[in-house]
Amino acid sequence: MTELESEAMEAEFDTVAGWTEEAVRALGAETAIPAGCRGSGSEGALRWLADRLALRPDGRVLDSGAGVGGPAAWLATERGVRPVCAEPMAAAVRASRRLFGLRSVVAMGQQLPFADASFDAAVCLGVLCTTSDKAGALRELRRVLTDGARLGLLVFVADGPLTSAAPEGNEFPSEAETRELLAAAGFEVLEVTEADLADSPEEWTRAADAVDAEVERRHGQDPAFVQAQQNSGRVGRLLSDGSLRPWLAVATAVATGRNARDTSPN
Ligand SMILES: C[S@@+](CC[C@H](N)C(=O)[O-])C[C@H]1O[C@@H](n2cnc3c(N)ncnc32)[C@H](O)[C@@H]1O
Repeated sequence: MTELESEAMEAEFDTVAGWTEEAVRALGAETAIPAGCRGSGSEGALRWLADRLALRPDGRVLDSGAGVGGPAAWLATERGVRPVCAEPMAAAVRASRRLFGLRSVVAMGQQLPFADASFDAAVCLGVLCTTSDKAGALRELRRVLTDGARLGLLVFVADGPLTSAAPEGNEFPSEAETRELLAAAGFEVLEVTEADLADSPEEWTRAADAVDAEVERRHGQDPAFVQAQQNSGRVGRLLSDGSLRPWLAVATAVATGRNARDTSPN
């Protein structure tokens, strides 16, 4: 397994990922996508991004930091694409393969095991704030995308000081910093909005809540559960008091000439 920047994050993104898979198996396949998207957005946020990614059924789509694969599975079901997932936590990768049949690989976003210009679109949802090397992760996304490809992002941004403790290991950029990082990596921001994280159908929320309750029933006493709850509770508090904003953006990979066809005479 690849290491994250804190033990609490590994509890949240590895151990709890495995428990989520277990709970989905106990409760039924219809809970899988809602539970698999719990780590980040809402169905409304996914729809907003998907509508702007210029997806084609035969297009090559990457989800970097895919977690257990809920968003990638939603894209496959709703938009007919076959995404490839990259995610550092082995239990999450296993869950994405077994729950959704996704093609998933264990990899850090800063070291993607793909050739240059391998993808026509990518998403990276709720990931940038979990790594201090944001520039490296964005540079790598640019490298594996073709010129003109679209990138969909969900970033929890903080434009001022936080009013309470940040979850361990997280570093929230401001919107201005995120825009600078994107430009430096070779992306041009096309459109942004603020996600409404409550913007999911009622049955989706009910299913995700049921999986959370099942995980708690089975593992509520485990120190990893307590640690993961504390971390996600901190994000929840910062979002509800407005210290953090769920920022959605679609950006285009600016042409570098690197993967353009060579038309020079010699
Ligand atoms: C909040 S979760 C979001 C998961 C998924 N994208 C979703 O929207 O449901 C953040 C994910 O980023 C992953 N992650 C953390 N550091 C990363 C890095 N350096 N590169 C790629 N992924 C990373 C974590 O393991 C975790 O699965």
